[in-house]
Amino acid sequence: MTRKNIHQFVWEPISSIDEVGRLRMEAMGKFLADYDRGKEEGRYRSESLPSLSFSDGQFHLALCSHFLFLYSDQLDLEFHMESIREMCRVSKEARISPLLQLGASPSPHVPAVVDYFEDAGYGVDIVRVLAGAGVVQGRNERGNGAHRER
Ligand SMILES: C[S@@+](CC[C@H](N)C(=O)[O-])C[C@H]1O[C@@H](n2cnc3c(N)ncnc32)[C@H](O)[C@@H]1O
Repeated sequence: MTRKNIHQFVWEPISSIDEVGRLRMEAMGKFLADYDRGKEEGRYRSESLPSLSFSDGQFHLALCSHFLFLYSDQLDLEFHMESIREMCRVSKEARISPLLQLGASPSPHVPAVVDYFEDAGYGVDIVRVLAGAGVVQGRNERGNGAHRER
């Protein structure tokens, strides 16, 4: 899949598909080696947006990678709003990456999401990050925030 869509990716700092494969296998190895213990300790939990069982402000940082915005055709604006509100409820800051939908075009939900959270008093930032992506970050008066990548 990555090979077929190779032009849709930024090949820096990871320079090849082989390197992607190696890094993913390495990450998977670390995850599997930690999984049994992490599950016992409650560090791995199965949850599903737009509703999470965690308490208000339980985390410093909530990350969402390659889910929100990526499936903009399948998941509507309301789902995005509810999910980001929920991430900001459980965490002081939320970061979402990338801001692209499948096919590597900008998600159509981003402008409405930014307007909504700014109007609601959250600080929102779009930040360019490694691998050609960008991030939005923000905090409201409670220190809660939203953070998205493009
Ligand atoms: C393209 S994968 C990305 C996996 C990983 N986060 C990454 O960046 O490599 C999309 C992920 O979204 C998860 N997902 C699907 N529906 C979800 C939901 N309602 N809430 C949270 N995650 C969901 C899937 O289980 C899958 O792991």
